[in-house]
Amino acid sequence: MSVDLSQGMLKDGALKGKVIAITGGGTGLGRSMGEYFLKLGANLAICGRREEKLQAAKEEMEASCGGEVLPFVCDVRDYVNVEAFLAAILANFGKVDVLLNNAAGNFISPSERLSPGAFDAVIDIVLKGSKNCTLAFGKHWIENKQTNKTVLSVVTTYAETGSSFVVPSAMAKAGVSAMTKSLAVEWAKYGIRFNAVAPGPFPTKGAWSRLLPGDMGKKLNAEKEVPIRRVGHHQELANLAAFLVSDFAQYMNGEIVIIDGGEWLQGAGQMNFLDVVSPEMWDWVGKATRGSKE
Ligand code: HXC
Ligand code: NAP
Repeated sequence: MSVDLSQGMLKDGALKGKVIAITGGGTGLGRSMGEYFLKLGANLAICGRREEKLQAAKEEMEASCGGEVLPFVCDVRDYVNVEAFLAAILANFGKVDVLLNNAAGNFISPSERLSPGAFDAVIDIVLKGSKNCTLAFGKHWIENKQTNKTVLSVVTTYAETGSSFVVPSAMAKAGVSAMTKSLAVEWAKYGIRFNAVAPGPFPTKGAWSRLLPGDMGKKLNAEKEVPIRRVGHHQELANLAAFLVSDFAQYMNGEIVIIDGGEWLQGAGQMNFLDVVSPEMWDWVGKATRGSKE
């Protein structure tokens, strides 16, 4: 490997002075991105539904990365809760510069086994939650004529392609992608940028326990689905996210940036299944296909 992928990429102080709100920032990828934002000089507000998780995250993140982390219990499905999260951020930091829509719910299931409530459980966290946060923060910025603000959302590659067995998540993430591209244009005049990241497999407890429970992870081997034969390092996503929310990315607006080692393309290319053909078999194929001229 040519670089140490656990290292940050941006220069010191790249996010100095920024206040960044991360939904679901106490665990998994939200936490990893938050830790890097802190190291780059930002202060954070993190929310989730579990107070102890958030409090522990605050203490650990401040100790290891510096900066200040404001933990706040907020269910993003509830607009009034989201307004309270925003109010707490403003009371503590006086402003907010970045919203990272990261909170999500998901699990694998055949769709015909899902109750209406199961669909809603996922769609409400992902789509309604991202809408609630974006609307509350956006209204605040617009009403107060604050510019140079940005919203980054975490979607998935299957927001574009669709996917079996995670249909509520695919529907909801597709909606978040549509929101990103729509508001990138509509709210550009207010000085608010919108982008999204679409990660491939990045191991987290939250995702792996719901998408590859038990020993499914070992049996199904996520690395095999990625052309470069590995899963993502959290720092790789953090590097991309830090760039996208930084002022260095002011010309990035309305992008859905995929970071998946080529995973979705491996599933998409019609002839990709030929990867299993051996060199000897390719020798034969060469002769056979040339011979097809006769
Ligand atoms: C079928 C299920 C279910 C399951 C819950 N339900 N889990 N149905 N299979 N595994 C049903 C319940 O029976 C109930 O139906 C309804 O869904 C609501 O369930 P609750 O447990 O009350 O919901 P809630 O407490 O709101 O929890 C939401 C959750 C949970 C989504 C179910 O898993 C959660 O809190 N997740 C948050 C974290 C998370 O999911 N992280 C992973 C993100 S990974 P009824 O009929 O009674 O209403 C990710 C990766 C994407 O997004 C791409 C990877 C490549
Ligand atoms: P995770 O650790 O389970 O993160 C989900 C977070 O969302 C948790 O902190 C959870 O906290 C919070 N959350 C859930 N429901 C909430 C609600 N109603 N209100 C507020 N917060 C809520 O999983 P992850 O893998 O890091 O996922 C982070 C993001 O990356 C998600 O958007 C996911 O779709 C996306 N993603 C992940 C992968 C991957 O391979 N890991 C791939 C593609 C996309 P509480 O439970 O305490 O509320």
